[in-house]
Amino acid sequence: MRALLTLAVLVATNACAQSPTQRPDVIFVPTPQEVVDKMLEIAKVGKGDVLYDLGSGDGRIPVTAAKRFGIRATGIDIDPQRIEEANENARKNGVTKLVQFKQEDLFKTKFSDATVVTLYLLPDLNVKLRPRLLAELKPGTRIVSHQFDMGTWKPERKVELNGRTIYLWTVPARKS
Ligand SMILES: C[S@@+](CC[C@H](N)C(=O)[O-])C[C@H]1O[C@@H](n2cnc3c(N)ncnc32)[C@H](O)[C@@H]1O
Repeated sequence: MRALLTLAVLVATNACAQSPTQRPDVIFVPTPQEVVDKMLEIAKVGKGDVLYDLGSGDGRIPVTAAKRFGIRATGIDIDPQRIEEANENARKNGVTKLVQFKQEDLFKTKFSDATVVTLYLLPDLNVKLRPRLLAELKPGTRIVSHQFDMGTWKPERKVELNGRTIYLWTVPARKS
């Protein structure tokens, strides 16, 4: 029920979203910090990882990953206001050397060097992104999604936390 409500809010409010350079496919709704922490735990983020948050909002996922694990992290967001907020967040948390934010369309940006990808988008956006995730990410790369699944690609873990759902997938070896 809560997932349905979240989905309805994301879709409905999106219809009224401000128009920056290119209209976002989904509005900014932040992931609660305890869910961010759980997503990083479930993905087993650690030394040497390279994290991308596709649709990074105020940058809380890349900033938390850099601060807690000392890893490099990139946030991609299409909305310039979000990029400004994310850069300020990185400055406040002293992680500007590890984190970068790019104002780009997540469907066009390059992310093949990631070892962890985080998402909080919408079900249809996850499904639209899925072929690129499978084709371009290295086998073994972990993908964690807050709230929304990947359609027919079944998750290897599904964790509930305070009414939120977190999904985990690992990119499989490519068939030769
Ligand atoms: C639901 S918010 C999630 C923010 C952050 N990842 C978090 O979990 O707190 C989705 C974000 O995706 C961004 N976004 C929407 N469409 C996008 C696109 N095509 N390319 C890049 N960013 C996009 C929005 O501006 C928004 O900040």
